[in-house]
Amino acid sequence: MKKTIFITGASTGIGKATALFFAAKGWQIAATMRNTAGHDDLRSNPDIKLYALDVTDVGSVHNVVKAAVADFGAIDVLLNNAGYGLVGPLETASADTVLKQFDTNLFGVIRTIQEVLPVMKKQKHGVIINITSIGGLVAFPFNSLYHATKFGLDGLSESLKYELKPFGIQMKVVAPGGVITDFAGRSLHTTIPAGQKTDYDNDVAKVWAAFEGGAANYSTAELIAEIIYNAATDGTDRLRYLAGKDAEALYAAWKQMDNESFFNMVNERFGLA
Ligand SMILES: NC(=O)c1ccc[n+]([C@@H]2O[C@H](COP(=O)([O-])OP(=O)(O)OC[C@H]3O[C@@H](n4cnc5c(N)ncnc54)[C@H](OP(=O)(O)O)[C@@H]3O)[C@@H](O)[C@H]2O)c1
Repeated sequence: MKKTIFITGASTGIGKATALFFAAKGWQIAATMRNTAGHDDLRSNPDIKLYALDVTDVGSVHNVVKAAVADFGAIDVLLNNAGYGLVGPLETASADTVLKQFDTNLFGVIRTIQEVLPVMKKQKHGVIINITSIGGLVAFPFNSLYHATKFGLDGLSESLKYELKPFGIQMKVVAPGGVITDFAGRSLHTTIPAGQKTDYDNDVAKVWAAFEGGAANYSTAELIAEIIYNAATDGTDRLRYLAGKDAEALYAAWKQMDNESFFNMVNERFGLA
């Protein structure tokens, strides 16, 4: 019998690449996304079914989990992938901007896990994979809110691992470095209101230029999909999977240094004071 993966944010990037990767391995895919119009490359695959789901809408999460179980009979793997980036100083972030970031990147994952858990408990098996980021383990300047959601997700996952093991449910975290997707384009929001000058503009520009300069080391979404597949199928108790050479190198450096040395190294690299 074919296994089923339920993916949030499957419209583009890592989510879409994962849908196609698992389909090629003989899986069935509940590919969920905010807007299901188009996406003929996914729709034309008989093992991929599209569902409209916004992770900030508890009703849509509830209904789509129910529909996917009715259609496929099981959810073997849940991939919490939907999310977006938020750059800029904390000081200028509006209350709505803060709330939306948490509502999508963190609360959206909590909602989806809560809906899927009764299904996996009944099955007596399942794998939950949360897409965090190297930014869920190591922090950079001017990403404080994004880091808060991804560090939060990492901690949530580590704790849930204990909680879910007795039910045969594995908990995994895939933490990518830079990936060539829409993330740095349409999925990147800023905390600075349009047209507003801030005290941080020079430093934000330096950090942004450094990130853009590092794009040559980014991974493809297909590589991340393969790591997600390994996490879903390796049957081990391993919690974290660093994804991408940049993420691996940075995490290794962070582990070797004390916090102050790492802070100084990052400041130097970004040309900050
Ligand atoms: N690319 C990177 O460098 C990178 C690095 C580390 C971690 N990540 C993480 O990887 C994940 C996927 O990002 P990506 O790189 O593949 O970028 P992407 O191509 O922009 O994909 C982001 C996905 O999230 C979806 N999404 C956003 N808000 C949503 C909501 N409220 N409900 C449902 N779906 C929503 C988007 O849907 P729409 O099409 O409706 O906008 C899109 O499908 C994110 O969690 C991101 O934080 C990315």
